Parts: sequence; structure tokens; C-alpha cells
Amino acid sequence: MDARIKAVIPAAGLGTRFLPATKAMPKEMLPVVDKPAIQYVVEEAVSAGIDDILVIVGRNKNALANHFDRVLELEHTLEQKGDHKKLSHVTAASALADIFFVRQGDPKGLGHAVLRSRKHVGDETFAVMLGDDLIDARDPLLSRMVEVSQTRSATVVALMEVDPSQIHLYGCADVEATDEDDVVTIKALVEKPSADDAPSNLAIIGRYVLKPEIFDILEQTPPGKGGEIQLTDALATLADDEQIAGPVLGVIFRGRRYDTGDRLDYLKSSLQLALDRDDLGPELAAWIRDIAPTL
Ligand code: G1P
Repeated sequence: MDARIKAVIPAAGLGTRFLPATKAMPKEMLPVVDKPAIQYVVEEAVSAGIDDILVIVGRNKNALANHFDRVLELEHTLEQKGDHKKLSHVTAASALADIFFVRQGDPKGLGHAVLRSRKHVGDETFAVMLGDDLIDARDPLLSRMVEVSQTRSATVVALMEVDPSQIHLYGCADVEATDEDDVVTIKALVEKPSADDAPSNLAIIGRYVLKPEIFDILEQTPPGKGGEIQLTDALATLADDEQIAGPVLGVIFRGRRYDTGDRLDYLKSSLQLALDRDDLGPELAAWIRDIAPTL
């Protein structure tokens, strides 16, 4: 499989749910254990074979750009001290991939952010990865989506079953089964429906493999939910008419996903990921057991 596609990471949101932490820093830079959320996403792209990543940035671009740049003074100091472990932590981010930045300008929604990648992406299939959703490295999703996109010449969206009470937080898909257990045909999509109006409990999680035809559709997509240009609406247009760019398929993800989109989920994700780590997990677990009876 040739996964030499580009990835686009929209990171221009205002991060209002995390104020004041996000006053001078994009929410994608919030640490999850000891790495900024966006670094997990970049690492996921790299492990799917992607080495060209465009980050769509907003007003707080510098922290992001600096994170993926070299920090020569710090590298020098750690080298002198012989602290090679910390040195590798510092250099890891800058050595991962070619990372490019473009500003979104007006924050007019996810669809608008994706449209800003048009020049960089050109006339090729590309991935979109949202920093609010972290996918466990042990449960690869993106490479499966790229494979499905290539073999079926399709647009591919990642779907996950959620509790019906949560569906209003996501794009929701109306689907039909295919001959593969983890692949469905998407018949319709609706952005953040109420539980009553939702056609299913299959939520779009933040991974997409898109064909370049999406750009023309996005150009013509009027503002939708929340007055924003919604990627979900553009995908719904594609799903409605296979003639435009072939089918829109969903890959159903049944692995481990960590949501960092709001404060409570962010805290839970940080704890889960720390519990899984050899250097932190055992002591953290002991402490949690210790305090649990007092809660
Ligand atoms: C965006 C999309 C939504 C999708 C979600 C996944 O919403 O608009 O369709 O389900 O990401 O995280 P947001 O969470 O940015 O409001």
C-alpha cells in the first residue's frame, strides 16, 4: 500500500472550553501527560507513512511552530550534560516529518479550515486529522482508512459507536453494511443532531481521508450548524451523489480513542494514558486506589 498522502491538521480553534489555559496557546498544545496533544496526532500520521503535514493555525501560531522546530540552546545544554534521554525527547518532535503551517484567517469552521489546505494538497487524496481525538498507537486506524480509500476509490470517514446521549456532539452517519465488517457505505450525514433526530449512534471521529473534489464542494457549502462551514455538510453532498467523487464510506473504529475535546474528557484521557505507562502507571494506580474510598 502506498500511503504517501499528505495530512492536514486543523488547529485554529479558539479553545474556549479550556480558557484561561488557551488564552495564549492553542488547545492542541495542551500537554496530555508530557506531550502536547498535537504531537500524538503527528506521530500517528507518521506511523501511517505520512511525512508531509500541514497545520492550519490561528492567532497563536508561534507555540505550535516552535514546538516542531529545533531548540539548539536546549539541545546543546542537554548534550553537554550527557542527558541523552531528555535530548531525544526534545529532538523527537522536530525530526518527525516535514511540517508546514498556514493561517486560517477568519475562523469560519472546520470546512473552511480544510479549504485553506487546497494549495498545499493540490489534486490528491489527503488525510484530515483533528487534535481533539487521540487514537491509541496500538490500534491503527488511519492506515486502514487509506487502504479502504485506495482499494474502493472512496472518501473515507472514521466512525465510532457512541452512547445516544452523546451523539449531539458529533457528526452522525446513516449507513448501510458492506461485505467488510468494519466498512459501511454512508448514505447521509448530519452535523450534531439531537438524540431524537440522529439516524444512528455512529459518530464521526476526527479522521478523514478526502479526495480533492471536496474542495469545490466546500467552496459552495453555505454556513451550517453554528453558522460555520461544516466539513460534515460537504461530505453529505458527496454521499448524496456518487457521481461527484465516488462513494463515501465509513471505517468503524473499535479501538482505544481518547477524547481531549473538553475538560473532563481531557482529564480522563490524561489519566488513562498515564496509567498505561511503565514509568508512571503503577504509582498512579496505587494512588488512585488509595484515594478512591475517600471520594
Ligand atoms: C468536529 C466535526 C464533527 C465531528 C467532530 C469529531 O466537531 O464537526 O462532525 O464529529 O469534530 O471530533 P467539533 O468537535 O470540532 O465541534
